[in-house]
Amino acid sequence: MQLKDKVVFITGGAQGFGKAVAEAVLKKGAKVCVADVKVDQGEATAKELQASSGADNVLFVKCDVSDASVFEDAFKAAVSKFGHVDVMCNNAGIMDERIWEKQLEINFGGVLRGTMMAMNHMRKDKGGRGGVIINTASLAGLFPTYWFPAYAASKSAVYHFTASWAQNPEMKAAEIRLVSICPSGAQTALLDLADDQIINPAHFKQVMEQVVYCTVDQVVEAFLLAMEDDTINGTAITIKGKEGVEKVKLSLVPVE
Ligand SMILES: NC(=O)c1ccc[n+]([C@@H]2O[C@H](COP(=O)([O-])OP(=O)(O)OC[C@H]3O[C@@H](n4cnc5c(N)ncnc54)[C@H](O)[C@@H]3O)[C@@H](O)[C@H]2O)c1
Repeated sequence: MQLKDKVVFITGGAQGFGKAVAEAVLKKGAKVCVADVKVDQGEATAKELQASSGADNVLFVKCDVSDASVFEDAFKAAVSKFGHVDVMCNNAGIMDERIWEKQLEINFGGVLRGTMMAMNHMRKDKGGRGGVIINTASLAGLFPTYWFPAYAASKSAVYHFTASWAQNPEMKAAEIRLVSICPSGAQTALLDLADDQIINPAHFKQVMEQVVYCTVDQVVEAFLLAMEDDTINGTAITIKGKEGVEKVKLSLVPVE
């Protein structure tokens, strides 16, 4: 898909990966709806993006992806402003094992909700324009990760859900592609963790000191690949600090 004049909806767009993706697609001539539960941060980001890319090309909407009707209203606001949505990035997420139900509700419930909403809107066989749905999973969703098992499971669900929909033959006529983005650790606010948010934080910290983080730029590269390469469907795009961006089409990877 060429991004010029397309409309991209990004949950968790106020900061981190989401904000960086918004910047990148605006540079390619797209329009963006930044949707986030953090209102001050979201409005500040939208202002910044409007200053660099034009006030009419950026919208901020307050959105909690764990609340179906709020999420639906946010999506409707984007459609009402821009006419349609061509790319849906279900990217909002948290890492907090203390509140595993809420974590699941955001990380997987939000993705499921956003995917179905975007799919109903985009389906070409039902009057839409087609499109791409990009769901942020994690490498932690492909490999067991003992420091945050419920988070890892939520991300595994994202990958599996996305790849399963991508296999549905109806998606061809619908002209919808679905892709998962699976970054390794990256230095964003997500990893500013209080000790009790994960299991054995001291060990996690020790391991992360040895690991090459992936960069936010590499993650953006993966998002752009997912949007622009029309041959990619059902794929998990992995991003590892050392190896960079890789396309992997896989069933869940067996445990070593
Ligand atoms: N940073 C990493 O190491 C890493 C690695 C793999 C995957 N991820 C995933 O990438 C995605 C983006 O995370 P990030 O690293 O940019 O972190 P981040 O904390 O900077 O950004 C996450 C954004 O999601 C928003 N958000 C949280 N709950 C929400 C809700 N209920 N509704 C709407 N928005 C909500 C936050 O306000 C924030 O703006 C997340 O899904 C995360 O799980 C991150």
